[in-house]
Amino acid sequence: MTAIGIHDIAIATGHHVLELDDLAERLGVDPAKYHVGIGQDAFSVPAPDEDIVTMGAAAAKEVIDRHGVDGIRTVLFATESGVDQSKAAGVFVHGLLGLPQSVRVVELKQACYGGTAAVQLALGIIARSPQERVLVIAADVARYDVDTAAEPTQGAGAAALLISADPDLIEIEPAAGVFTADVDDFWRPNDRSTALVDGRLSVTAYVDAFVGAWDDLVAQGGPGYEDIARWVHHQPFTKMAIKAHRKLAQHVGQPFDESELAVGFTYNKQTGNTYTASIWIALAALLDLDDELDGQRLAMFSYGSGSVGELLTGIVRAGYRTHRREGRVRAVLDARVPLTVDAYRELHAAGAATSEDTDRPRVTTAPYRFAGVRGGARRYE
Ligand code: HMG
Repeated sequence: MTAIGIHDIAIATGHHVLELDDLAERLGVDPAKYHVGIGQDAFSVPAPDEDIVTMGAAAAKEVIDRHGVDGIRTVLFATESGVDQSKAAGVFVHGLLGLPQSVRVVELKQACYGGTAAVQLALGIIARSPQERVLVIAADVARYDVDTAAEPTQGAGAAALLISADPDLIEIEPAAGVFTADVDDFWRPNDRSTALVDGRLSVTAYVDAFVGAWDDLVAQGGPGYEDIARWVHHQPFTKMAIKAHRKLAQHVGQPFDESELAVGFTYNKQTGNTYTASIWIALAALLDLDDELDGQRLAMFSYGSGSVGELLTGIVRAGYRTHRREGRVRAVLDARVPLTVDAYRELHAAGAATSEDTDRPRVTTAPYRFAGVRGGARRYE
């Protein structure tokens, strides 16, 4: 059977960064609580002329620049910070990138899990039509109210994945473990631009979904624990991956050395939570920075509050090292413009654009910008 999987990954993030040391000082919190307790160093903040569309388009542009548009007939855009209740964010991206008209575009939502659902749909399309390639975009802005426990776990970013037959990076294996439970751990009602969250419940719901998805993977005939060389997690904050993994190791009666997860934390510690993009940014870090992955099996756990979890496994393709993008990702992270806590809070208070006509100040240096709302419709350039 032809291998199907992830052919390329590109990452984009917001124009600004807030260092958690600065937030800790303002809030009178020991910075070690952020660096060690939750395992985060900073988070990205979008400029007023950025959103999921501009970040998603920036990441997708990189993929298209490298591979062209041949064979792309489907664009799947996953997000939980959608900019319109009707029009798919991917249609804006389609326009910005000048993709051919013979392409179907749709938006998917189930909290942070949506990107993984998009990958699953893409794998199915390629299984039926191996000559096609599917562009998956996952982009989000994680926003909570200020002065809440969740504030340091915000962030912003996007990942674009090209899913194809005979992929350069990872062959995804057919068995997957899934787990769904109706739980109010995190949600965002239609009249709010910030999420509501029961932090403690969300942590236990994540752990339950991880263990449940593992049990389902075993029931589906998936690989044994000892056959998995590396683990990649959705990382709302990197310590979450350690907490969940500790529980799984107990569940299967295996030892767990938490330093094994550290490489996959490298980029997420800087972007903060990127919801749908988080797991793919973690995967990108692992592929960029771990030298020993040729032919190795990875397990990738995706969690979306509410809640749905899915555990995928894949085999890293020999030669993945020739497709590394560490320099590019570092440049994107290092180019972010630091914010003071006051400036960040001001941006936060301004919130998202409404349907009233507005022009947005020109701030971002990214390839695309959100120009504002005119005639009630969003304009990008
Ligand atoms: P909190 O009140 O800051 O928690 O909220 P805490 O007081 O328990 O402290 C956190 C950790 O810091 C603890 O460690 C403390 O001991 C430690 P733990 O016991 O957990 O191992 N700590 C210190 N460590 C070193 N030095 C110190 C120090 N002080 C304390 N001086 C919470 C934390 C994560 C709950 C909060 O930030 C939150 O609500 N975040 C948002 C929700 C979230 O991210 N949940 C994760 C699971 S849900 C999920 O992944 C889905 C999501 O991405 C959304 C989606 O699917 O769409 C969120």
